[in-house]
Order: sequence, then C-alpha cells, then structure tokens
Amino acid sequence: MTIDEPSPAQPPKLSARRRIERAINRGLGRFGIKLVRQGRTQTIGGRRMSEAQLLRAARARGLSPGACLEELFGRPGRAEEIVAWMHAAGALDPRLATVCEIGPGSGLYIQLVRARLQPMRYEIYEIAPQRAAYLERRYPVIAQPTDGETLTATETGSIDLVHAHGVFVTTPFLTNCAYFEEIARVTAPGGWVCFDIVTKDCLDPDTLEAWIESPLRYLSLHSRAHIDRFFERHGFELVDTMEMPLLVQGRARYFVFRKSA
Ligand SMILES: C[S@@+](CC[C@H](N)C(=O)[O-])C[C@H]1O[C@@H](n2cnc3c(N)ncnc32)[C@H](O)[C@@H]1O
Repeated sequence: MTIDEPSPAQPPKLSARRRIERAINRGLGRFGIKLVRQGRTQTIGGRRMSEAQLLRAARARGLSPGACLEELFGRPGRAEEIVAWMHAAGALDPRLATVCEIGPGSGLYIQLVRARLQPMRYEIYEIAPQRAAYLERRYPVIAQPTDGETLTATETGSIDLVHAHGVFVTTPFLTNCAYFEEIARVTAPGGWVCFDIVTKDCLDPDTLEAWIESPLRYLSLHSRAHIDRFFERHGFELVDTMEMPLLVQGRARYFVFRKSA
C-alpha cells in the first residue's frame, strides 16, 4: 500500500499531542491565530545536539563521528552494510581512480570507501563549510566549491564513482534533478553512480504518520520511474537497487547505476 492508493483500513490514529494541538488551533482559528511549535534549537537528525557535542560524544566513545551517530540512532554497522552492498554490485573496484561524494557530512562513507580502495582523487561537495573543512583536515579529499546543486569544479566524464548517502532524501526535488544532470555529466564511461532517494513505496501510511509526528520536515519524494528513465536516457544501466532503513527514521531506496563504456 502506498500513499496515493486509497486505504481500506482505518486512517492511522493521531497522537494525544497532535489531537490537542489541532483542537486548540480550531478554537484559535476564529481569531486568525495559530499555535506553532517553538523555534528549533541545534539538532542532528532531530536530536538536540550540536556538532561540537557530537564530536565530544564520538571522542568519549573512541568512535568516528559517523560511527557515533550510528550508535546514537541505534543502527551500528548500517553504512558498512551499504558499502558492502555497493561492493557486491561492483561499484567499489579497487582500480577506481576518481571518486566524488555529495554531502559527505561526518565522513563515514569516505572512511569506509577508502578502506576498500585508494583513489588518486576523492572530491567532495559539502554545503556546510565547517564540515567540508573538517573533512579536508581529516582525510585526503578535495573539498570543491559547493553551490548546492552543481558539480561545476569537476570535469565532464572524469569520475569513476559518484555517490551520495542520505542527501537526496532531504534536498528538494529540483535540487536533486539538477544534481542528477551533473552526476550524468561528470561520470566517466564505465563509471558507477550510487545514491538513495525516497520513493512512494518507502512511504506506507504508518511510516508517513511517523514522519508527520516527528520534528523533521525535510523529506523529499521521487518517482522511481523518473529516476530509472532519467539514467537510462543518459546512457546508464541499473545494476542493483534495494530498500534500506534511513539512519534517523523511515526508509529509502538505494540505486547503483553504471554508465556504458
Ligand atoms: C543527512 S547528512 C548525511 C551525511 C553522510 N552522507 C552520511 O550519510 O553519513 C546530509 C549531508 O549533506 C549535506 N548537504 C545538504 N544539502 C546539500 C547540497 N545541496 N549539496 C551538498 N551537500 C549538501 C549536509 O550538510 C549534510 O552534511
């Protein structure tokens, strides 16, 4: 059952908190007033936590920040499972010379990919400048100027593996479409592409209600058929796809595509 199919079952029940909010807002609506949740404090995946606090927590546990996040969200080993799946699909051949990652965040996938191959060049496009600077200090990567939707600093046909994890599930539809065009441009003949998105099959009514209940408002929805058609039109073939629980909540669909040689 998906979000645009009518459900024969009862709609999911609202929590007590949301029922109270709605009742108050019905009353206030007469006066043109609406109750809204208080402004956001610094959060990571909806948890009240700053980046400095995450780094301290990681240090205290003797973990990398990315591995620490996996522990905090109760999903240790999740990224390793994804990287093992990429490897099984053939997307992590040790001979790959150039890698580009969009939105590397804590650097967890830099760490795991570099454990399997040592590319001559590992470029990153990270919108948060302090994260990009941290990653450049910590790993042999090149932080490219990031405008949030292009890979302008990367030459056409120059990258053997372009990947992104947990990024296109949050960024808006058109931003993702712009990135997909750029990914198709920079991938070398025979190169690999791996990313995850949320498609409607990842959103059954209970999962959708859990998103509504959460403080998070970033979910971005894509059509699976559009993704398949786009990459096929740009000379890629779908190598593998799988559904995977997201780190914070909900599920996403992963893809590995390969560009024709
Ligand atoms: C949810 S985090 C995922 C981090 C990492 N890929 C992982 O899975 O551990 C998303 C990351 O993408 C970055 N980001 C968000 N929008 C972006 C954009 N338009 N271009 C590049 N990076 C972006 C964020 O700053 C953040 O570091």
